[in-house]
Amino acid sequence: MSYHLINLIYLASATLFMLGIKFLSSPNTAAKGNYLSMIGMGAAITITLATPGLHGFAMIGAGVAMGAVIGGYAAIKVKMTSMPEMVALFNGCGGAASALVAMAEFRGPGSEFDSFTLIALLLSMIIGGLTFTGSLMAYAKLQGLISTRPITYPAQQFINGIIVLTTLVLASLLFRDPANMPLFLAILALALGLGVLAVIPIGGADMPVIICLLNSYSGLAVSMTGFALRNNALIITGSLVGASGIFLTKIMCDAMNRSLANVLFSAFGKVVESADDTGEGPAGTMKGFEVEDVATILANAGTLIIVPGYGMAAAQAQHATRELGDYLAEQGVEVRYAIHPVAGRMPGHMNVLLAEADVPYDQLFALEDINDDFASTDAVLVIGANDVVNPAAKTNPASPIYGMPVLDVEKATTVIVLKRSMNVGFAGIENELFYMNNTKMLFGDAKSSLQKLLTALKQ
Ligand code: TAP
Repeated sequence: MSYHLINLIYLASATLFMLGIKFLSSPNTAAKGNYLSMIGMGAAITITLATPGLHGFAMIGAGVAMGAVIGGYAAIKVKMTSMPEMVALFNGCGGAASALVAMAEFRGPGSEFDSFTLIALLLSMIIGGLTFTGSLMAYAKLQGLISTRPITYPAQQFINGIIVLTTLVLASLLFRDPANMPLFLAILALALGLGVLAVIPIGGADMPVIICLLNSYSGLAVSMTGFALRNNALIITGSLVGASGIFLTKIMCDAMNRSLANVLFSAFGKVVESADDTGEGPAGTMKGFEVEDVATILANAGTLIIVPGYGMAAAQAQHATRELGDYLAEQGVEVRYAIHPVAGRMPGHMNVLLAEADVPYDQLFALEDINDDFASTDAVLVIGANDVVNPAAKTNPASPIYGMPVLDVEKATTVIVLKRSMNVGFAGIENELFYMNNTKMLFGDAKSSLQKLLTALKQ
């Protein structure tokens, strides 16, 4: 197999990846995008295996089989609500793979590298290492294994700065003594530590941003591995993941109202008090409503905005939501859906679920397109959403979500909230909305409440 043919096929794979990403930008073409990327990946793997001089096929086969079984099982079994956890783990695996390849290349005494390769190997190991442990921390936070609150301690930024500085000093020493394995391992240990320390001070509400950033880092690490191995497929694929990850980070930053610089350099150590830590109690009294009362409000509404959140996903209530929306629309109610960019647990989570339930795209409105309309809306049905409708983001500077754009549901004439209890949402903070005069709470599992509402409306 000639070097030129291999690179030509790598180029074709890269083109398929880019087309795949392009098609993923719309739910209509997303499946096609996935297929194109799969063909691209299949071609890249096949041609790599056909590279002259490659050996150790038994080990490679065992690795591919293990990866395929674990990845396939996870993809089939994972619940839609656990997607961010899976993405975090997969980001971590990407980082670990890059760090391991760098270690394998660096064989200790006798190794000789030019400066360029050494830099690429070091970056592959450092970025890969911190992506690995950072992603594990993000997974643990998302899974609730450790607190979603920011974990902070004195001089946190300073200590992180010292670790970065020490890493740089050790890396420069490695240039004088490239065969120094203990030095190499010390740098790896610092990178692993930095991944943990960089993610623990980040609060739960900022996790979407950090997952996207770690995704970008995993791509960068792969790209560096590509430079070290002189493999064009890895360079291009890693760069694509790195670049698209950073764009997604920017989109998430805008949604959370955090600047990228703030996420990268300042927000890591920021200690914020949550609303309930301030001692300020929510205003008003919570009003629990029965299904029949809520059905009457909906039947008499001329305009309705449905706001889905994580609870709709957890209850798998997207079909029941669409059935209720369709029924009310048939009765002459103007029904629209308001989608917050970080509602649920992954980018586009609500769009995916509502598309699966065949809600027409022209009924779905992004936050910026619908927020002004709440004030002139008769009723809002909040289905398992909490943080994304929390007015504290606008009114309480002490709140961890202060500054995040939220849906202005409280401006509607009546707000109906479907959830099981007065429990907090992902950010772990109280929601004043639930106590406001125009808010009615309907407690219960979202799917079951929606089904009961539909039955009551039809009677
Ligand atoms: P959350 O603030 O997480 O609130 C969800 C609410 O759903 C909870 O208060 C819960 O209350 C309710 N719920 C859970 N299961 C339910 C069920 N079976 N039936 C009815 N209600 C149920 O959701 P949100 O408003 O969508 O906000 C998303 C949050 O997740 C944000 O803080 C965001 O930053 C974060 N986050 C987002 C992403 C992305 S990219 N979307 C990724 C990671 C984290 P009860 O327990 O009382 O029922």
